[in-house]
Amino acid sequence: MSTKPTKATISFDNNATPIELPMLSGTLGNDVIDIRALGKHGVYTYDPGFMATAACQSNITYIDGEKGLLLHRGYPIEQLAEHCDFLEVSYLLMHGELPNAEQKANFTKIISTHTMLHDQLSNIFRGFRRDAHPMAVMIGVVGSMSAFYFDAMDVYNPQHREISAYRLLAKMPTIAAWSYKYNLGQPFMQPQNKLNYAENFMHMMFATPCEEYTPNPVLAKAFEKILILHADHEQNASTSTVRLVGSSGANPFASISAGIASLWGPAHGGANEATLQMLEEMGDVSRIGEFIKRAKDKTDSFRLMGFGHRVYRSMDPRASIMQKTCYEVLNELGLHDDPIFKLAMELEKIALEDDYFVSKKLYPNVDFYSGIVMRAMGIPNSMFTAIFALARTAGWIAQWSEMNADPEHKIGRPRQLYTGEARREFMPIDKRA
Ligand code: ACO
Repeated sequence: MSTKPTKATISFDNNATPIELPMLSGTLGNDVIDIRALGKHGVYTYDPGFMATAACQSNITYIDGEKGLLLHRGYPIEQLAEHCDFLEVSYLLMHGELPNAEQKANFTKIISTHTMLHDQLSNIFRGFRRDAHPMAVMIGVVGSMSAFYFDAMDVYNPQHREISAYRLLAKMPTIAAWSYKYNLGQPFMQPQNKLNYAENFMHMMFATPCEEYTPNPVLAKAFEKILILHADHEQNASTSTVRLVGSSGANPFASISAGIASLWGPAHGGANEATLQMLEEMGDVSRIGEFIKRAKDKTDSFRLMGFGHRVYRSMDPRASIMQKTCYEVLNELGLHDDPIFKLAMELEKIALEDDYFVSKKLYPNVDFYSGIVMRAMGIPNSMFTAIFALARTAGWIAQWSEMNADPEHKIGRPRQLYTGEARREFMPIDKRA
């Protein structure tokens, strides 16, 4: 039986002295070669996209992409999605353990009594164009929180970190819902502390001063699931952005605002919005073949949105849960004949059977289904990524706090392989070609 290696040696083909490097082991997953000492030898590694590089140690989330496994603090996502509400999962991510009844009640009370925004913040919303994308508004408003809540921004003080974390988690639904209301031209709805986290967000989205909103329990449960399934996903692009920005000691609001900006990209959180846009463009089942052909064409940059994942090479466990929720919501609302949903279900079937997608292990991802669920709930496409950001705030602040509490953490400063001009002399303008 082969034993695990404890060190690795890098040898060079020019007879330079080989470099010995230790191996590090975590609780689960691959061991890693500790390359920190390489710089002392004037040797660096090249890994665009961090395909093979662990940028930090973390004990929050574990993913096994081959097995389709996602654990938060050791608990499988299936169990958390089945038995917990979003605040319980947020508590787990932040504090490392599931809360007992008293801790849960206290945490829920703290979060639900900090949902209001400073009144001046409404003026920041009013500075945006009415047609601004909600993500653009969120990036701005969350960044501007550092101008309002600066009494607890010492990132090296655990109490300050906790206060800022609670503020972010509590106020994010209000910010997301207001970015939508501003778009619509409707008055901002104040939070209702008697409602739970998911219902409160739905109230701020859909109620008006003239009409209350009573959430359908199936939809409220589905929304809670969307929040839980998007709460954290280890070192993805936006979380790594939060860590990188925060690594300089930047305040939590600036760091989370940067995470929202990163999430907005269509290769990341923008995928659920892009999926629905793609389905709308497709319009009819008869055009699926044409789109699949384009997705396979190497000369075409088009990709089938909502398919594939950097880490999962089998079905994303979150996608399986969301798929079930998706059918529950479509059943509840009797939407099976809606052309877009019919199209989505047909596309899912074809892609799951098509050789190209099967051989490359490109399964529908969680965003494929969450986009469909949110559309069915009456949430406009432009809010999909904003809701992802709202949910991911729980993970971002847990990861940001973990980094700041780590005495070993350093400012993130990658190296590069320079491919530009070598040194050359300045040329006066009249001598330039
Ligand atoms: N449609 C068609 N082909 C695809 C797709 C897709 N959606 N995704 C990957 N491929 C192909 C690539 O062309 C590539 O083919 P090749 O090996 O012949 O060159 C192969 O599959 C591997 O693709 P990579 O780009 O190397 O995979 P990577 O891990 O870098 O990308 C990503 C993952 C960005 C998610 C990609 O699958 C994609 O762009 N998907 C569509 C966007 C999307 O749904 N994003 C949501 C991600 S989930 C989330 O953020 C919660």
